[in-house]
Amino acid sequence: MFPEKRMRRRRISEPLRRLSRETDVCSDDLILPVFLIEGKNTRRPIPSMPGVDRISVDLIEEELQDCWVPAVILFGVPEQKRRDRQASAAMDPEGPVARGIRAIKQNFPSIAVITDVCLCAYTDHGHCGIPGDTNGEIDNDATLPLLARMAALHAESGADMVAPSAMMDGQIRAIRGTLESEGFSNTAIMAYAAKFASSFYGPFRDAAESSPSFGDRRTYQIPPANRREALCDALMDEAEGTDWLMVKPALPFLDVLFELKHNTRLPVAAYQVSGEYAMLKHAAARGALDEHAAVMESLLSIKRAGADAVITYYAKEVSQWINP
Ligand code: PBG
Repeated sequence: MFPEKRMRRRRISEPLRRLSRETDVCSDDLILPVFLIEGKNTRRPIPSMPGVDRISVDLIEEELQDCWVPAVILFGVPEQKRRDRQASAAMDPEGPVARGIRAIKQNFPSIAVITDVCLCAYTDHGHCGIPGDTNGEIDNDATLPLLARMAALHAESGADMVAPSAMMDGQIRAIRGTLESEGFSNTAIMAYAAKFASSFYGPFRDAAESSPSFGDRRTYQIPPANRREALCDALMDEAEGTDWLMVKPALPFLDVLFELKHNTRLPVAAYQVSGEYAMLKHAAARGALDEHAAVMESLLSIKRAGADAVITYYAKEVSQWINP
């Protein structure tokens, strides 16, 4: 005990602190989200997410220049007039995501392409699944074949991994089944396994213009108060054959990340979502935080809690801070 034992001895100098460092963040941990829109040479900023733009497919090349991450995750943002009740635009082989996958695979062979698989940006009502005929509830089982079709289209376009985020029960099984039967046995699945009904998605819904036009997402996303329920949901995705698990949002749910990591042998990703990004960006812009230090500390915390990879809107910037 004190005074013979002193914790400060190991912190006394920079090299000793380096030597005992338990966790690190490197570019190989990061996944960059990219929002793809229709049109040519078009860049539409997202007001609530300074520094993040929605881009047309031809600008991908510019976007991924000097970005040292191993993977991107693509989100399609079709025009409002192309959205309908059944999310037909999600199945369009000439839509921005399908074209985006092909463009990245052609020009950036060393970047893995992950795609978000969800209907919310493609439906005119903004829900992640399709409403049933009677009460406006989202119809779980009727949504599954659509998610599976969307995933197969992404696989066919060359995606390395599909990431279903609709929180429908059975979606991993349905997607795995379709991928197998259509010959895409090497296409991996990253399940948004523990996705909470969070208020931190606000800026994303601006970006994707995907706020639900009626009701909310609480009948399918996990209540933020429930850790056991989240674990149960995630382990079901594991049983259905997912290759990766994910916890989302990240910082408000580090306890879930930690516990999930200790209850699985699968790799676990965490999604530092739009609201987390916006908090850091806006606070830094007002001089309240040192942006570089606060971002690195957040990412480090997410890694320390157990993430093998982090999806973050800071991925490109951080990859440049680390590998200038
Ligand atoms: C689609 C989806 C959402 C996010 C990722 N995929 C929005 C939602 O569920 O409302 C949120 C990502 C973010 O906030 O950065 N379902």
